[in-house]
Parts: sequence; structure tokens; C-alpha cells
Amino acid sequence: MTAFRFDLHATDGAARCGTLHTAHGPMDTPAFMPVGTAATVKAMMPESVAATGAQMILGNTYHLMLRPGAERIGKLGGLHRFMNWPGPILTDSGGFQVMSLAKLRKLTEDGVTFQSHIDGSKHLLTPERSMEIQNLLDADVTMAFDECTPFPATEKQAAESMRLSMRWAKRSKDAFVERPGYGLFGIVQGGIYPEFRAESAAALTAMGFDGYAIGGLAVGEGQELMFSTLEVTTPLLPTDRPRYLMGVGRPSDIVGAVLRGVDMFDCVMPTRSGRTAQAFTRRGTVNLRNARHQDDPRPLDQDCTCPACRNYSRAYLHHLIRAEEILGPMLLTWHNLHYYQEVMAGLRSAIKDGRVQEFAKNFAEQEAMGDI
Ligand code: GUN
Ligand code: ZN
Repeated sequence: MTAFRFDLHATDGAARCGTLHTAHGPMDTPAFMPVGTAATVKAMMPESVAATGAQMILGNTYHLMLRPGAERIGKLGGLHRFMNWPGPILTDSGGFQVMSLAKLRKLTEDGVTFQSHIDGSKHLLTPERSMEIQNLLDADVTMAFDECTPFPATEKQAAESMRLSMRWAKRSKDAFVERPGYGLFGIVQGGIYPEFRAESAAALTAMGFDGYAIGGLAVGEGQELMFSTLEVTTPLLPTDRPRYLMGVGRPSDIVGAVLRGVDMFDCVMPTRSGRTAQAFTRRGTVNLRNARHQDDPRPLDQDCTCPACRNYSRAYLHHLIRAEEILGPMLLTWHNLHYYQEVMAGLRSAIKDGRVQEFAKNFAEQEAMGDI
């Protein structure tokens, strides 16, 4: 039986390289977790997701509780068996998705009542119910139930929202059923206010979690404020626990956050963009819907070893997009996830070799060159 454990292998400045061990296997960090909201990483077979190098994926309490239902997935043997993903799974706790997707939301001390965006049915999500659902899903990493403080927020709003999340974090911890190989992460809130980030980090570390997420970022504050908030937050977190920046981001956001001490990321960007013809490459983003690709026999990215780049031309990918063929989103999603995993592998080896600053500089220069 694997214990839930984080081994730190190397540091380079604030950047860290390690391995998180879970009940369903390890994940090397810095890591990017593809988003599998509705028990599928959209347009990808699970074995293909694994072939890109991804080790852990993310699932969503909110979507799965509404459809097909947490109790149903539990009876069917949990989310790993249900979706045929044998590796580790992290589930978000639901509050963030309720606020962005549900209808008629009402937030109280107890939790959030809301109407389903699917059929209008009424539901209550509390810290206790969120822990129960994530347990039924068999999540290797359970996230505390929190409120993502919107941006902009006044000091008063940010403080009150953060303190509610800290009371919910305590209730989450009390309700979490400890099992070997399974962990619970607290989520630091506090908006863009350093004193509230510090208060939140202190509250969570006093409770003691298996990992620490940084929430409430990438909500419109911009990269500079996100980076400055990370710089005041990560030094306050225990060095022997993983740090997870939720919902981030573009490749340049990830590189910058790794330089500031973050270990884990998730974002819909590579999968969602793949379905709207946007590809991420070493030379920045490429929109394959653009007519300039229609006669181009070259691969999307000369240096990429993914199936989309090894076997197909830009002209063919452009055709698939224009013809709205399903293979278009499939190939571009595969490429984007492959590219994100290459960036993460590059970061890990650069940290081990003590050249992460050089890696970041080269990365920024290449992106700035643009597609040719
Ligand atoms: N996803 C992106 N940001 C957040 C956050 O602040 N909280 C949670 N639970 N999920 C998120
Ligand atoms: Zn590729």
C-alpha cells in the first residue's frame, strides 16, 4: 500500500522538482494535469492521455454529482474504473464550478444551494457533502471546499470570503476520511492582498494538509499580479508538501509560476483550444483555421513527436477544421497536451540540472519569435 507522500528531489532557486506518490501511482512535478471534467478528457482516449506523458488528471465534483451522480459512480467502482483511467485523479471540490455554471446560487455559512445548469434541479453543496462525493469518486487528491474570491474584490470582500473558506477548510478536514495513499489539499485564498494570503496560509498550515493549493488566481487580475501574489504566498507554505496553482494556465504562466515555487497545474486551455483550432507550439500559438495553412505541406510543429505532427500536414489539419471533422479536435487536443507535457518535462530536467533560469529565458525568446 503506497502512502500519500511528496518527495522533493531538487530545487533551483524557488523552483522545485519532486514526485507525489498516491494510491494509484506517482506523479513527477512540476506537473500539468489535463482536465477531465465529465469523466473524460474531451476528444481523447485515456490511453492517449497517458501517451502524452500525463500522470494525473482532474475530475469535477460539480459536473459528476449532477450527471451521472456520485453514488452511481461509487457503486460502479469509482471514477478510475468508470472512465478507465487507472492513474491518479484529483477532483475539484465544486464551489468554483457552482459559481461559474449553476443557476440561482445562494451562498450561506453552511454551503451553497444552486440549480443545475443541466436540468434545473435543486442541490446543496457543503464541505461535508463535497468530501463525501470526492470519496465516492475515489479521488486520490481531494480538494477542500472553498469559495473562489472574484476579481476585483474590495479588501472587506476578500477578507470575508477568505475567512469563510478557512472555516470551510476546517470542516473539510474534519469530514475527510483518511486512507493510505489518499490526500486532502487546503486552498489558499485572499485575493491580491498579501496580508490576507498570509493569514490564509497560516490558517491552513496550522490545520495541516497533505498539499496546498493557491486559488482565486487567473480570474482577471493579469499575469503580473498573479506572479506577485505567488511571490508572497509560496514562501509561507511548507517546503515538504506539494503546491498547486488552480486553473493555470498558458505555457508562459506555468513557467513563471514554477520559477516562483509551484509544483502542480491544471487548465482547460490545451484541451479547449484544441477544439477551437488553436495549437500551442514552441513558437507561440497557431490558429489552424487560418487560410495561410491551406496549402502548407509542413507539420504543425517540426520538432514535435506527437501523432498530429508526425503524420499530418498543416494543410490536412486545416481541412479537418474547416470541414468540422471530429479528427481535427482529436489531433489538436493530442498535440496541445503533448506540448504541455514536453514543457513540464523540460522544466523538471532544467531544475535537476540547475538551469531553470536559462530554460525560462530560452522559452520566452522562442515564444516571442512567433510562428513561421
Ligand atoms: N479553480 C480555479 N480557481 C479555483 C479556486 O479558487 N478554488 C477552486 N476550488 N477551484 C478553482
Ligand atoms: Zn505535435
